[in-house]
Amino acid sequence: MREQLSYYLRGQASSWPVYILEQLVLGLCSWVPTVIGIGLRGLFYRLIMKLNGVPAIEVGVRIAHANGIKLGKGVYLDQGVYLHALPGGISIGDSTFVMHHTMLHVFNFRNLPQAGITIGSNCFIGEFNVVRGQGGVRIGNGVYTGPMVQIVAVNHVYQDPKRPIREQGITAQGIVIEDDVWIGAGATIVDGVTVGQGSVIGAGAVVTSNIPPFSIAVGTPAKPIRDRRELSANHRQVEVFFGALEEIRQ
Ligand SMILES: CC(C)(COP(=O)(O)OP(=O)(O)OC[C@H]1O[C@@H](n2cnc3c(N)ncnc32)[C@H](O)[C@@H]1OP(=O)(O)O)[C@@H](O)C(=O)NCCC(=O)NCCS
Repeated sequence: MREQLSYYLRGQASSWPVYILEQLVLGLCSWVPTVIGIGLRGLFYRLIMKLNGVPAIEVGVRIAHANGIKLGKGVYLDQGVYLHALPGGISIGDSTFVMHHTMLHVFNFRNLPQAGITIGSNCFIGEFNVVRGQGGVRIGNGVYTGPMVQIVAVNHVYQDPKRPIREQGITAQGIVIEDDVWIGAGATIVDGVTVGQGSVIGAGAVVTSNIPPFSIAVGTPAKPIRDRRELSANHRQVEVFFGALEEIRQ
């Protein structure tokens, strides 16, 4: 029982005193609705995590290992976001939005030195994304992801058919998404992959190998079908829209 309790605690915070402080601040602030709650969290969450400026954290954001989290200026965390920053940590850059029910989970129960999730500035991480950072996930600046994208920097070892997979350990090499990448809805990026700067990943793609910069890559496994630098001027000639988010970020 004691062992189980201590295992549970290690999953929640770095020590008992830190657990008590984090749970106290989260318990008092995380449920408060409206802009009053956003204000309270912007003020008091700096007691338990590193805040550079004031983030907007909606009601009902679930946080574990808060002392491993760094948020830049103007970060927006939507309702239902789950950040689990077991040592290795999570860092989110200025003006990055993380949308409804997205989960950033380092899940580092094996103490991998490379574990962690870093997201640059001006990114937009869409709804219901899952980012698993055991091998380390580095997302550059200006990266946009559609809904249901999965970025999973871990694989189970399964080479020995005579032993259960769960007993064979994991590999975790890490994933890099360079600047200015757009990942379409439902795409999955597996461990060990780099998606080059300026690339577009099509909806539903499964990216299993490196994608060169400025590619448009689609399918399973994802293959580059075009180079963005070679698109003709009349490619996708339909009406283009901009909104307040682009204006705020100018
Ligand atoms: C990848 C994408 C941007 C390509 O757009 P595009 O450059 O206009 O490409 P086209 O529509 O001309 O398609 C080119 C070829 O790729 C194929 N293709 C396009 N998108 C594909 C996809 N997601 N998966 C598989 N094949 C795809 C097309 O069928 C076409 O094949 P063909 O040459 O054999 O006819 C677009 O199809 C896409 O997937 N967008 C993501 C939408 C999304 O997730 N939005 C969420 C908002 S964040």
